Amino acid sequence: MAFYYDQPSHTFSEYLLVPGYSSSECIPSAVSLRTPLVKYKKGEEPAIAMNIPMVSAIMQSVSDDKMAVALAKEGGVSFIYGSQSIESQAAMVARVKNHKAGFVVSDSNITPDMKLSQVLELVARTGHSTMPVTEDGTANGRLLGMVTSRDYRVSRMSPETLVSEFMTPFDKLIVGHEQDTLSDCNDLIWEHKLNQLPIIDENQHLLYLVFRKDYATHKENPDELLDSSKRYIVGAGINTRDYAQRVPALIEAGADVLCIDSSEGFSEWQKRTIAWIRARYGDEVKVGAGNVVDREGFRFLAECGADFIKVGIGGGSICITRETKGIGRGQATAVIEVAKARDEYFEQTGIYIPICSDGGIVYDYHITLALAMGADFVMLGRYFSRFEESPTAKLMVNGTYVKEYWGEGSNRARNWQRYDLGGAQKLSFEEGVDSYVPYAGTLKENVNLTCYKIKSTMCNCGALSIPELQQKARLTLVSATSIVEGGAHDVIVKDKSSRNN
Ligand code: IMP
Repeated sequence: MAFYYDQPSHTFSEYLLVPGYSSSECIPSAVSLRTPLVKYKKGEEPAIAMNIPMVSAIMQSVSDDKMAVALAKEGGVSFIYGSQSIESQAAMVARVKNHKAGFVVSDSNITPDMKLSQVLELVARTGHSTMPVTEDGTANGRLLGMVTSRDYRVSRMSPETLVSEFMTPFDKLIVGHEQDTLSDCNDLIWEHKLNQLPIIDENQHLLYLVFRKDYATHKENPDELLDSSKRYIVGAGINTRDYAQRVPALIEAGADVLCIDSSEGFSEWQKRTIAWIRARYGDEVKVGAGNVVDREGFRFLAECGADFIKVGIGGGSICITRETKGIGRGQATAVIEVAKARDEYFEQTGIYIPICSDGGIVYDYHITLALAMGADFVMLGRYFSRFEESPTAKLMVNGTYVKEYWGEGSNRARNWQRYDLGGAQKLSFEEGVDSYVPYAGTLKENVNLTCYKIKSTMCNCGALSIPELQQKARLTLVSATSIVEGGAHDVIVKDKSSRNN
């Protein structure tokens, strides 16, 4: 006879935190959101920890190199999507690792024989007024000069004037060199009152531009997540099919951590994938696994050697797995049970395996609930897809700016490796939808606000760190009527748009 659970499974929206005592020391600026990303032994430090408990989902419409840089700047980690060729995924990872904070690869480049009219067209198209002049017009060509808006006067010059006639030629430029640090470059910028500084190699080929304004931004990112060589930390998704080719390419490109991306992780496929990685790389390569929703699933992946374990089936905003297959579990219940299993495993073995609550975060407070229930960090798709930095198109629909967001199991992504259980090698039916989400601005401003809300709720619970929150949190299930009471009610709300999160 089938097994029946005594209790229904619950979602985050069915819970509330009951505040505890907050001392006067308990203020948001004193709260640390630092959290482990990979497993560690009792008394030791994890090989990778994050400064905020947020990672971006392994999805085409969420995590590319641009997202990864933006999130690492704020202290989290992106997992670059694996539903693309090994070469292009590895190239994205390499771009993150080669991204030098404050050093920008120029994207508006011109040649000396271009005309002023073409320069003006380029400025209108890119919005950038700093244009290196290179021999071949590429970002890494031989640098011959620079053009900025100070070099031409549209009203007095013929549109036919050649760049070579009005550019600042190379011999009049102040330049930095490959080995210069950001701080060296900024000294040059200040000394010579420059707005930007081209950096060249020993053959006078352009490498980067350093902008005066970026130095200030760099200083504004106290949480940025860097490896020991001061490069941004980045993750990458893998699947249980082509790991023998994909994993070496990603490691070669510099990925700091991998994660098996699958809709269901309690499977022999994951065991084989982790075993292959351990046989080839030992514990050096970090790999997360999932997704699971119960104690057995957790124990299985823990014993397979996973470095972190993802929790959640069917709760994603674009997910229709529960409708198409009838499998899944309320996200809150899944996190609570897996967190218990993680603590029990820690007791028994002295090994702490971080768990990640993946999918179904709608409001910022859901993140705090997930952490209070025992998650070490959360994975978000919809949340990040709304930002300027996500890889998808920004469109105007019915007078509102939106961004596109589609599931990995949708016909659009066709990530069959994530769903197929062997044999078919194709996406046999859809488990995700293609959608729009409201455009929400930049990652930085949103993540900063979200983290501030988390910290302030933690203060209400008297907690200055995530482990302290997990110890002190008191949670209550709420009745359907008290959920109604929780929103604005019995008033005519003037501006609903300000209450999105
Ligand atoms: P969200 O943050 O609620 O949008 O959920 C994102 C999560 O949904 C991802 O991290 C995946 O675990 C999951 N997911 C991504 N694509 C699909 C899909 O097509 N079907 C079901 N789940 C998906």
